Amino acid sequence: IDTPNNADNDSAHPADNHRHLAGESTDFVVTQPENESYRKRKSSMLPLEVGTRVLCRWRDSKHHPVKVIERRRVPSGGPNDYEYYVHYTEFNRRLDEWVKLEQLDLKSVETVVDEKVEDKVTSLKMTRHQKRKIDETHVEGHEELDAASLREHEEFTKVKNIATIELGRYEIETWYFSPFPPEYNDSLKLYFCEFCLNFMKRPEQLQRHMKKCDLKHPPGDEIYRSGTLSMFEVDGKKNKVYGQNLCYLAKLFLDHKTLYYDVDLFLFYVLCECDDRGCHMVGYFSKEKHSEESYNLACILTLPPYQRKGYGKFLIAFSYELSKKEGKVGTPERPLSDLGLLSYRGYWTRVLLDILKKHKGNISIKELSDMTAIKAEDILTTLQSLELIQYRKGQHVICADPKVLDRHLKAAGRGGLEVDVSKLIWTPYKEQG
Ligand code: ACO
Ligand code: ZN
Repeated sequence: IDTPNNADNDSAHPADNHRHLAGESTDFVVTQPENESYRKRKSSMLPLEVGTRVLCRWRDSKHHPVKVIERRRVPSGGPNDYEYYVHYTEFNRRLDEWVKLEQLDLKSVETVVDEKVEDKVTSLKMTRHQKRKIDETHVEGHEELDAASLREHEEFTKVKNIATIELGRYEIETWYFSPFPPEYNDSLKLYFCEFCLNFMKRPEQLQRHMKKCDLKHPPGDEIYRSGTLSMFEVDGKKNKVYGQNLCYLAKLFLDHKTLYYDVDLFLFYVLCECDDRGCHMVGYFSKEKHSEESYNLACILTLPPYQRKGYGKFLIAFSYELSKKEGKVGTPERPLSDLGLLSYRGYWTRVLLDILKKHKGNISIKELSDMTAIKAEDILTTLQSLELIQYRKGQHVICADPKVLDRHLKAAGRGGLEVDVSKLIWTPYKEQG
């Protein structure tokens, strides 16, 4: 999904980032001869200004339009030797990277016009919910809201601050900026304790920490266990530092989410693979204790080394199982990321079409919603996108030809890891005291 042309281009999968970036030398050779006037124009152009649009050679050896987000001097280089942090306007921001001048096609500087970036930035409208959240934390009013939007915008356009993290047995390339406290921003790599999620700047600090940290699983209650898979519920109010650490970590892989949230208001559902060394986090989702908008999930993340193995689907299914126990319908908080939308679309499609396939006789959207805890709007958009809704005799009806259902089900992919509801021991959140 990282390339515009190929929705399933495996080579562009973000998890491959590290393989591509590690130790690659840029052996690009400029083959066209440079004439005198071009050389002059080029030197007057350099260093390129932030905001410049130009074509850049990407890992597929093709040139793609980019926007320069930031620049920095090359240590021990000449006065015009800069590296550029670029955003590929056709690709997701997780592929933003530092590139060398040789990768840029300077001849294209004047010709590349691509408004996509601007469009994206201005269309980053906050959901009403986010606005309300900000309003609540900054009561000063509208000037403050504007400042908050501005900060949020700045955060979206920022250069990645932390390049890699170490977490348990994995070293992971990060995807996005995360607002760590300023004293951490001069480190390219951070070392996380995989159990309490405290982070440190140096490996020795982590080693010392691991000797005294006595956690072997997330703090909180184990509410589900099936085989080696466990889910822990962590109350952000009771485990504030853990909740905050988790948010800093998660933001490295979530673009459109802000950390204005007060962790007190959230429960964190942390999924772990357990062995004799402890319970290792593979992903999580957060959920508001009370949601007026019937959100049953705020943020969802599968850590990159564990992605595309079905954990995301498991987390989504789990969030709906909780909603069923609450006797409510639910929906994920918007906006959804590209990967989030893909995962949800897949989940909704599978769950709804499985029912339609087995069901005899008429069924309404309301009934589907009651059975699945999926919000009616999400059911409607899913069925509409599959063209299963038709307008007949003045009303909308679901048309479920078994052959068509089978085709869609096949396209929706594997079901993934199943949630075994008999192993979920949980009661909905109740305010204490
Ligand atoms: N390219 C193409 N399709 C993909 C990709 C990808 N890189 N990743 C997921 N999908 C689709 C596939 O259809 C996949 O099913 P398949 O493997 O059977 O084809 C399906 O989504 C889900 O796959 P899972 O393995 O169950 O999901 P995963 O564990 O990878 O987690 C998640 C999905 C949570 C969205 C993960 O990609 C992630 O953490 N991304 C970064 C954070 C993020 O964007 N979160 C959602 C934000 S929206 C919100 O929080 C409300
Ligand atoms: Zn620890």
